[in-house]
Amino acid sequence: MAGKVAAFRVPCQIIFGNGAADRVGEEAKRFGATHAFVLSDPNLQKLGVTERIVASISSQGIRPTVYTGIEFEPSVQSIAPVLSVAKEAGCDLVVGLGGGSTLDTAKAVAMLLGNTGQTEDYLGIGLVKQRGAPSILMPTTGGTGAEVTPNALFYVPAAREKKAIVSPHIIPDVAIVDPALTVTVSPAVTAATGIDALSHAVEAYTSLNATPLTDLYSLEAVRLIGAHMRTAVANGNDLEAREGMARASLYAGIGIGNAGTNIVHALAYPLQGQHRITHGVANSLLLPYGMQYNALSNLLKFASVAEALGEPVAGLSPRDAAARSVEACRLLSQDVGIPQKMHEVGIRPDHINDLVEGAMKMTRLWANNPRVVRPDDARAIFERAL
Ligand SMILES: [Fe+2]
Repeated sequence: MAGKVAAFRVPCQIIFGNGAADRVGEEAKRFGATHAFVLSDPNLQKLGVTERIVASISSQGIRPTVYTGIEFEPSVQSIAPVLSVAKEAGCDLVVGLGGGSTLDTAKAVAMLLGNTGQTEDYLGIGLVKQRGAPSILMPTTGGTGAEVTPNALFYVPAAREKKAIVSPHIIPDVAIVDPALTVTVSPAVTAATGIDALSHAVEAYTSLNATPLTDLYSLEAVRLIGAHMRTAVANGNDLEAREGMARASLYAGIGIGNAGTNIVHALAYPLQGQHRITHGVANSLLLPYGMQYNALSNLLKFASVAEALGEPVAGLSPRDAAARSVEACRLLSQDVGIPQKMHEVGIRPDHINDLVEGAMKMTRLWANNPRVVRPDDARAIFERAL
């Protein structure tokens, strides 16, 4: 790692804290925006959160157009109709308020307001020509980290795959993280998005592209998740736990935004594409098995993960300490009620061939993986996870 030359990118501004959501109008004004496209969802609208964001925007003399018809785990074709609403209204700024689906849609819409063509043209690495309309992203589920990453993921039905737009030009201009917005998230979603954040933190920390700068964020994210996730699931009104998880998700997002994910996400994407299992659950099902396989590559880093999760590792050999990290993550996902084995979500032994084939296509993620994974290795991991 010493001497590695690497860029470190985050949004121009990150605003964090309870009540931060009310700063959105002020931030929109800084861009000279006249008409904001506010992407939200029916649930946030029902809870009055969308109205609060719209009030902040309107108070600055900016017109809002609200759109709440976003697809869950959006398909690549779902973006065009959303974009045309923004274009017809003459929007010059995008505000995304919601979970990963809303934030990824907001990233694509903002990008396409400043670039020609359609979403399909930009699936891949570094294909976006320039920044689009200014964007302000506000997560409400505390997990994806999408408010700070250069990635947006879309389901491609024809290929039964999730594919990504990856470009520094889609890193949002402003991330507003208000932990108080996450108190109404259900225990099941808190659990699934929390384990997604844990996967981000562990994968970024052990990625081949990890640097001392990303390690600061990734390892602290692991520690925060170990300290707060069980409480956040048990009692969603616990603001300290919600703040810990919101911070963890942000830090883990900064980690993957710069160091990338690897084995867990690579193995989990075909579960989402081929079987429509949600992102957080898919990652959770593969996390212990991916870690177990990768631990050999860097025992000391996996030992640090165990320590950050509160495991008593003093006096253990690096090998035993690293093994504790795997067990600690498995127990965490078990405690928060996520299915532990793929068969529990309907995966059968005869599905594994296609899962292996799908996983091996995730070359952009394998490039970050600290241990070489061949098809037979992927198969063995899926069989253990079944
Ligand atoms: Fe993820």
